Amino acid sequence: MSSLTDVQAHALTEAQQRISQDLLTALDAFYIPEPLKGAVYHAVMLGGKRVRPALSYAAAALKPNTNYAAVRRAAVAVEFIHCYSLAHDDLPCMDNDLLRRGQPTCHAAFGEDTALLAGDILQSMAFEILGSRLFDQGPAVDSSIVLKQMQILATASSKMVNGQVLDIQAEGKHVDQEALENIHRNKTGALISAAIMMAAVTIFDGTDAAIPKLREFGLAIGLAFQVQDDILDIISDTAMLGKTAGKDQQADKSTYPALMGLENAQAYAKELHDQALNALSYFEAEQAAELLNIVQFLLSRKS
Ligand code: IPE
Ligand code: IPE
Ligand code: MG
Ligand code: MG
Ligand code: MG
Repeated sequence: MSSLTDVQAHALTEAQQRISQDLLTALDAFYIPEPLKGAVYHAVMLGGKRVRPALSYAAAALKPNTNYAAVRRAAVAVEFIHCYSLAHDDLPCMDNDLLRRGQPTCHAAFGEDTALLAGDILQSMAFEILGSRLFDQGPAVDSSIVLKQMQILATASSKMVNGQVLDIQAEGKHVDQEALENIHRNKTGALISAAIMMAAVTIFDGTDAAIPKLREFGLAIGLAFQVQDDILDIISDTAMLGKTAGKDQQADKSTYPALMGLENAQAYAKELHDQALNALSYFEAEQAAELLNIVQFLLSRKS
């Protein structure tokens, strides 16, 4: 698969730097007592590809002169929920992992009680940020947009939890493709779609034809992301992944490679990326350049 050009890689790095700065600004706006504070900063600030915030920014780039503060808040909020989901996903009662983003997992560094609470508080903080005026320089965004953003994120967060339950229940079992797709769309796809749709409702009117196109894009890229995560667990290594490779097989997880074989899973991931590109063909290539860039990155990612 083709790798990124220097220009594309630079654009992603820039988005990563922007979100890291905003995440820190957002975290610093809260009072959190130690040791919880250390655990929250650990869960949020140490590494991560920041794909979900990058998708929010890239979707917003479809329409210039947008209310960018509301998009920045959405990007922070979705990454907070994602980081909470990782802190909980790694707990001994869940996937029982010790390495995340090349660091000890949150519970390995701070203990299970504090890691659990770090996830809990991040979830509430995500919604506080959405309802705040952080980053605002001009007039406040219409409250109906804030409400839509909150509904999208709350629904996706619930889906993520439902997907995690299904994922655990499917351990050691052979589930069919329909059931596996349901797990992956919920545990991972929903939050990725939410990153896109929170930006979409901020920049487009509810009746705009762009909205269903972005929903279609989010569905495809969201499922593709977890299929690729399953593949990387097998073909990548721990140093590259920053998390322990081979864990899915060890835990007898239901994954796409387990269901259909590695090669078929790779072909399916490619097909889903093509579906995502197809949805984007509705937009002018120039305006969709950032989204296209991310699809390219996701296709070639090694971690
Ligand atoms: C890992 O997500 C967990 C999944 C939902 C597959 P990412 O691969 O986005 O993890 P980071 O944020 O880059 O560490
Ligand atoms: C993660 O799925 C889904 C979440 C909601 C966090 P995985 O359990 O496959 O994610 P990794 O491989 O540990 O990052
Ligand atoms: Mg898991
Ligand atoms: Mg896991
Ligand atoms: Mg995984």
